[in-house]
This record gives sequence, structure tokens and C-alpha cells, in this order.
Amino acid sequence: MSQPLITLDFLDKAPAAEALALPTDVRVSAATRTGGARKLYIESYGCQMNFSDSEIVSSILADEGFDTTEDVATADLVLLNTCSIREKAEQTVRMRLKQINSHKKRKPGMLVGVLGCMAERLKSKFLEEEKIVDLVVGPDAYRDLPQLISQVDGGQKAVNVLLSREETYADITPVRLNSNGITAFISIMRGCDNMCSFCVVPFTRGRERSRDAHSIVQEARDLVAAGYKEVTLLGQNVDSYKWASEDGTERVNFAQLLERVALVSPALRVRFSTSHPKDITDEVLHTMARHDNICKYIHLPAQSGNSRVLELMNRTYDRPWYEERVRAIRRILGENCAISTDMIAGFCSETEEEHQDSLSLLDFAQYDMGYNFFYSERPGTLAARKLEDDIPLETKKRRLQEIIDRQQLHARARYARMVGKVHQVLVEGPSKRSADHLSGRNSQNQVVIFPKQNFQKGDYVQVLATSTTGAALLGEAV
Ligand code: SAH
Ligand code: SF4
Ligand code: F3S
Repeated sequence: MSQPLITLDFLDKAPAAEALALPTDVRVSAATRTGGARKLYIESYGCQMNFSDSEIVSSILADEGFDTTEDVATADLVLLNTCSIREKAEQTVRMRLKQINSHKKRKPGMLVGVLGCMAERLKSKFLEEEKIVDLVVGPDAYRDLPQLISQVDGGQKAVNVLLSREETYADITPVRLNSNGITAFISIMRGCDNMCSFCVVPFTRGRERSRDAHSIVQEARDLVAAGYKEVTLLGQNVDSYKWASEDGTERVNFAQLLERVALVSPALRVRFSTSHPKDITDEVLHTMARHDNICKYIHLPAQSGNSRVLELMNRTYDRPWYEERVRAIRRILGENCAISTDMIAGFCSETEEEHQDSLSLLDFAQYDMGYNFFYSERPGTLAARKLEDDIPLETKKRRLQEIIDRQQLHARARYARMVGKVHQVLVEGPSKRSADHLSGRNSQNQVVIFPKQNFQKGDYVQVLATSTTGAALLGEAV
């Protein structure tokens, strides 16, 4: 049986999970040993939001006497935290359930639950379609897990897929399962109120809500006290973060939140994802410019380079607007701020000329990184209801390949520009290729590898980049 990839140390490759909603590798949560009576195995698919949620789930279940294990075969409870973003993401989970079924046959008491976006999308249909599943729990119902599990212990199947307008899990301290002890995610908001016509997230994650700013800053403080050196603030659209105290006297927008977190400690790096091009303000960019510890990297998904397609996608900006935002980044933060994108190839009715516009946007923006996919129709979305998925699969794949190839040229060029410069690198651990080397990232999120000497995980090291592989910088400490 093929073991899922454990990607706790995303070291020598560019961190695939950096963008919010990537079809990243599966993550198996690391083991905890607190003497709990039952064993939980949890596997996360999709975006960082899910990885972060799995840490909340583990925390809720730790209070119920569950220790996490990395060994699915011996688990009492197996949870898959699932993704619905593209059809393929769902197929992966269906296949995984079949594998888990064979474990369950050997261990009949094993309970199997599905969490996350696919649970929310399919609801109780999941129980009918996949006989192995005992438990279906949506992203806003994790507090109900103990009750649902006892229902299953009592011999019933259990479902809770209620979405909430308030739930932010602000008071739950995540069990840091996906972490190397240096970098951690902090979820700052949930849900999404944008209605991009291709996207299932508003349906699976519900309405947008922002978490109490004080609880976010406190979580960052606690992480610093525990030795963490980097936090990534997470949300589908972080730039629309807005929180007000109950009496309305205190209001915090994203730029202000970013500043508060940056002020927690100069030794704490701050990243964030994802920025929506319609919402990212100059105030955010100026805040980034003011604080050295806010990393100079912005994930700014364009989706398309053509204004007509962007309108069909309901992205609410057009190409000139997007280009202006890129110019603002260059103006306020300079050439060294990294930018990445997501592009969708072959959206409904996209012509060859319109596809060329996506390629020319890659040339315009010169992205450091791109997370690109071909369009996958999702049931219930605006596009599925109103538009025809009319681009043949081969055309979609060819256009996607052209986008990937073009983007790779720019990524290489961006890496090459960094050679000869000194970078502040936060060491995340040993390099996978060589025990004598360490691996970390610079502010721009590029991977940097250099000889170990006496440096350790968690150190900030000044590294002169001497060459590049095109996907990492190689250098030496200066
Ligand atoms: N909130 C983020 C994106 C979240 S989804 C934003 O607005 O930018 C992550 C990425 O998955 C999207 O940026 C998009 O490129 C891709 N995606 C979403 N739905 C898709 C679909 N139906 N087919 C193909 N790609 C899709
Ligand atoms: Fe989906 Fe658009 Fe919301 Fe991003 S902003 S999660 S693409 S609906
Ligand atoms: Fe994330 Fe996938 Fe849901 S990308 S929000 S887990 S649909």
C-alpha cells in the first residue's frame, strides 16, 4: 500500500503548500503522546486552511483523550480533512477511502470520518455513497465532534454540516501537528463572501467572518514564547479582514492587524495568504514596507489575464486594475518583493487570444511562482449553472502547459536575479539532499540551501547566494 507523503519538512523544494488552496501533498499529522486512551489518525488535503483546521480538530479531540498517530493501521479514529476545489481533489479522497477500507477490515472497530469541504458539499450523501464512512463533519461543526463520535460509538452514523456566521475557533489552541517547530499557521478569518463563478469555497466554507484581533495577536505571542520564528496569517481573502470590538470602539483592518502581529517581536517573521487583487490596499503595502519582519512576498492570484474572462469569472477587477496593483507593489516595495499567482486555463468560452492574454500577464508581472490549473467545473457554482464548460480537455491541458512553461521561465529569471545578493534566511532544518547542508527560506519565500557549519534550525543566517538550480538558491553564510 502506498504511504501518503509526509510533507512536514517541505525543505528542498519550493513549499508547495504556500498558496492558500493548492492541491498540495497530503499531510499526515505527526504523533502526539499524552497518554490518551484512543488513537486518532488525521490526514489533510487541499489548502493551508485545512492543515490549520486539522490542528484545531486534534486539539478538540485531545481533550477527549485522543492521541494522534502517524500509523493509520492502528488508529481507532481515522479522519480525512478533504478538499473540493477541483474534481481531481475529490477523486483522490475517494481512492484513499478505498485504501482505508482495507485497514478497517483488519481492525473492525475503526471509525472513519470525513471532514472539510467535501463533507460540506456532499453532506449525508457521503454516507450513502461511501459505506465505510461513519461520520461527516463540515468545517464549522468541529466543536460538535465529541458528541458526534459518541453517537457513532453508540452504533449510529453521524452528520453535522451546519455552517456558522460566527465560528472562528478563536479560543481553541491548535495542537501544532503540521509544524517543524519554527513556522506555524494562524487562521485569521473563515469563509468567503466573494462569488467567483468557478469556485466552490463559498459553498463549502460559508460566510466570511474575521477572528478577534486580540486572540490572533495572543496566538502569535504564544508561538514566539514556544520558540516559533514565523507565522502565516491565513484567510481566503485576508485583505478583507475586518474586526470590531463588541462596543464598536475598536476597529481593525488587515493592514492594522498585520502591523500588530509584526510588532509582537522583531524576531518573528510574518507572512500572509491569500490576497485578493480587488482588496489589497496601499495601506497594506506601506505596512509591509515599514516592517522588516513582514516578508516581502504576496500571493496575488490573477486567474486570467483577460478582462472579459475575469468578468465571467466574477472576479470584480479587470486587467488594468490588476496591472495597477502589481505596479503599486513594485512602487512601494521595490523589485525585490516576490509575487505569485494562480491561473485557470480553459475557463468557459476562453478564446485563444484570451489565453494569450494570460501568457502576456505572466510576462507583465514576472511572477516568482505560479500555481496553475485547468478549469474543473464544480457542481452548484455560478459557472456550472450559467456557463458552458466548452473548452475541450486537450485544449485546456495544452493551454495549461503553455502557462506552466512560460511561468517557469520567469521563476528561473527571478531566482537568477537573486544570485550575488545576501539573503536573510530562516533555517527550517537539514537539507534533504545533504546532511552537511541546511535549508531555509528568504523573505521572498525562495528556498536557500547552504553549508551547515554550526547553524541550527530556527537561526537567522545571512547567506550569499552563489548559484541557483532554478527552484532554489545555493550559497554560503557570510
Ligand atoms: N481565495 C483565493 C483562492 C482560493 S482557491 C483567491 O481568491 O485567490 C485556490 C485556487 O484554486 C484559485 O486561485 C483558483 O486558481 C483555483 N481554482 C478554484 N476553483 C477552481 C476550479 N473550479 N477549477 C480550477 N481551478 C480552480
Ligand atoms: Fe473562491 Fe473567489 Fe472566494 Fe477565492 S475569493 S475562495 S476564488 S470565491
Ligand atoms: Fe481549501 Fe479545498 Fe476547501 S482549497 S477551502 S480545502 S475546497
